[in-house]
Amino acid sequence: MENFIFENSTKAYFGKQCVSQYLPAILARYGKTVMLAYGGGSIKRNGIYDEVMGILKDAGKTVVEFSGIMANPTYAKVLEGAAIADTQHVDLILAVGGGSVMDCCKAVSLAAVYTGDVWQDFWAKAGTIDFSTIPLGIIMTTSGTGSEMNGGAVITNERLKVKTGRDYPRLNAQFALLDPLYTYSVPQKQMISGAFDSFTHMMETYFSAPDDDNVSDSINEALMKSVIRNLRAAIAEPENYTARSNLVWASTMAENRILKLGKQCDFQGHILEHALGAFTDCNHGCGLAVLLPVYYRHIKVAGAKKFARFATNVWGIPGKGATTAQLANDGVEALAAFVKEIGLPTTLRELGMKEEQKPLLPVIAATCVASPGSYKRLSQAELLSIFEEAW
Ligand code: NZQ
Ligand code: ZN
Repeated sequence: MENFIFENSTKAYFGKQCVSQYLPAILARYGKTVMLAYGGGSIKRNGIYDEVMGILKDAGKTVVEFSGIMANPTYAKVLEGAAIADTQHVDLILAVGGGSVMDCCKAVSLAAVYTGDVWQDFWAKAGTIDFSTIPLGIIMTTSGTGSEMNGGAVITNERLKVKTGRDYPRLNAQFALLDPLYTYSVPQKQMISGAFDSFTHMMETYFSAPDDDNVSDSINEALMKSVIRNLRAAIAEPENYTARSNLVWASTMAENRILKLGKQCDFQGHILEHALGAFTDCNHGCGLAVLLPVYYRHIKVAGAKKFARFATNVWGIPGKGATTAQLANDGVEALAAFVKEIGLPTTLRELGMKEEQKPLLPVIAATCVASPGSYKRLSQAELLSIFEEAW
């Protein structure tokens, strides 16, 4: 194992009815004004809004609402939330939603207290948060990003056409309530793309140095197998609690820093998807489903031993008699077949891009950088060819 320091300051509460069970006592630790932040209204349709609002009222809180947080949250929306949090003297931000709501609220918790140019100082480049942000709590309603238990946030600057992510430990939520039952109302396509997103977080960590025996890779293989198994079960039977609860915790585990201990991590696939998302506003997990198999075909030779291990240990492909190169190829193609099996898009056209958008590909590729954690440092030309092959 390589050297590391591990810390995770988010207290996670997991399981059926955890919100009604724990939120009242948690709220007692915070001041009077709570900003209830949410997305496009799904929480009003599935009853979560009424439940949370009832608990807030019973706790005697003054509730300030911040709604309409869109998928792929924009910097403009962050500034809107920051202005509300600042003028209303919010004591706690309560983010109720998926990755988009959680990320937007992390960025709001920072922007509301920072007097400089928050884009320039923290999102355009990594900055140092050595001051207190507004306390943040999370009630997760759809899983996949893992944002509930880390300081990561991904924000899109629409004007600059940049979608960028940073992970600041100070942006970790103080608490996260994870009730798998809350995810039952998520549309099936989103449930699948979220689970696939979590699977890519595992792969983007696994396919990176060091590759000698280490605990992180061993845990990772168990998690990847768990996602494959439980996603299949959840597609066959959407209200299978075992499957849904495993998908929730596996996605949290993928991004709560535990898997990354001692690993360099790659995340080239995410760099490509974020660039695509900045121009097309595509669904994150679906964008990854299109790009990851194509990217892995480009690095399977450089990372042959690890891709071969992936084939046998994760997909159960028998290794006997096969060369490392054959097995590596089989591992990548098993992933591509899985994307098809679970019904996610396999090309940019299936993702919804139109013929007239094809000239955008060089523009999108030009905004991508090569990941230093990749098995192969890709040239700009190769980054572009990934988008072209994905067309
Ligand atoms: O807007 P609402 O009404 O909340 O509806 C959402 C949205 O339409 C809906 N939904 C959520 N919970 C629901 C529900 N619908 C019915 N019932 C429920 N219980 O699902 C849709 C998608 O929600 P969203 O939050 O956008 O999805 P996701 O969790 O996949 O988040 C995506 C965002 O997270 C970023 C992505 O780039 C994207 O911007 N990521 C954040 C990461 C992080 N912070 O560490 C890492 C990831 O790699 C990712 O980049
Ligand atoms: Zn992701």
